[in-house]
Amino acid sequence: MDIYSGVAELRAALRNCGRIVFVPTMGNLHAGHISLMTQARAHGDTVVASIFVNRLQFGPNEDFDKYPRTFQADCDKLAAAGVDVLFAPTETDLYPEPQEYTVEPPAIQHMLDGEFRPGHFRGVATVVLKLFNIVQPQVALFGKKDYQQLMVIRNMTRQLALPINIVGGETVRAEDGLALSSRNGYLSVAERAEAPRLHRLLSRIRDALRAGDTRYAELERMAVAELDQAGWKTDYVAVRQQSDLNPPSGARQALAVLAASRLGNTRLIDNIEV
Ligand code: PAJ
Repeated sequence: MDIYSGVAELRAALRNCGRIVFVPTMGNLHAGHISLMTQARAHGDTVVASIFVNRLQFGPNEDFDKYPRTFQADCDKLAAAGVDVLFAPTETDLYPEPQEYTVEPPAIQHMLDGEFRPGHFRGVATVVLKLFNIVQPQVALFGKKDYQQLMVIRNMTRQLALPINIVGGETVRAEDGLALSSRNGYLSVAERAEAPRLHRLLSRIRDALRAGDTRYAELERMAVAELDQAGWKTDYVAVRQQSDLNPPSGARQALAVLAASRLGNTRLIDNIEV
């Protein structure tokens, strides 16, 4: 695996590489990331991963400084997964001057996670567009674990006519159902034991919806109450339309249930398609 930090060197290396498949990450890689790398192989000739902890998408009181950085272990995992090229820019490589031109996503950036993380999806869309321009992939993979992020990137790619096929990868979970996440490492032993409750709750709501239950607000309220009881601090549990993440508007809409809740100081997000 070849590793580049400079934009010019990466661009030179990617000339004549055939069809490029790109998987952007912030590092601290786990089996969820690696499943995207493995799927990437089937979509083209050269698999490019990136590792960059993007300051622009972190709020002032979020975990940018303590976000886990495990570069050597990440490189070993990427090489073992058959990744061809790793782009690992420094902050000066990617932001040599203040990033004043940004991508401003529409209303979707203010709902669900966006309501609790102002500016987050602007930061994500901006860095992803910039990475797309640097890597110039034909295909890019993103996990459904970050469902709203996947939708923001899909919509941006479509509306700005970027010649990139966006592919969504299924969420990889621990055996007890907890979605793998770099932030799981912040959990204490007791919190880790409690954490799978979130996925159990989402699964239960999914089952109720599949059985025809349409009391969306009631299902959401009961889930929040159970999380409260168990000591979580919940930002939202929401039944939404898969198509645009708005509340269900009528029959025959494919739905998803999305949630964000805090266990101690650790904010966990998860979702499930119905
Ligand atoms: P990061 O959190 O490192 O995630 C990188 C990619 O891995 C994202 O597409 C994410 O959805 C996916 N992923 C994370 N956990 C997963 C799991 N358990 N199963 C499947 N896929 C999973 O998301 C980001 O980085 C950043 O916002 C980024 C897109 C790189 C822009 O900075």
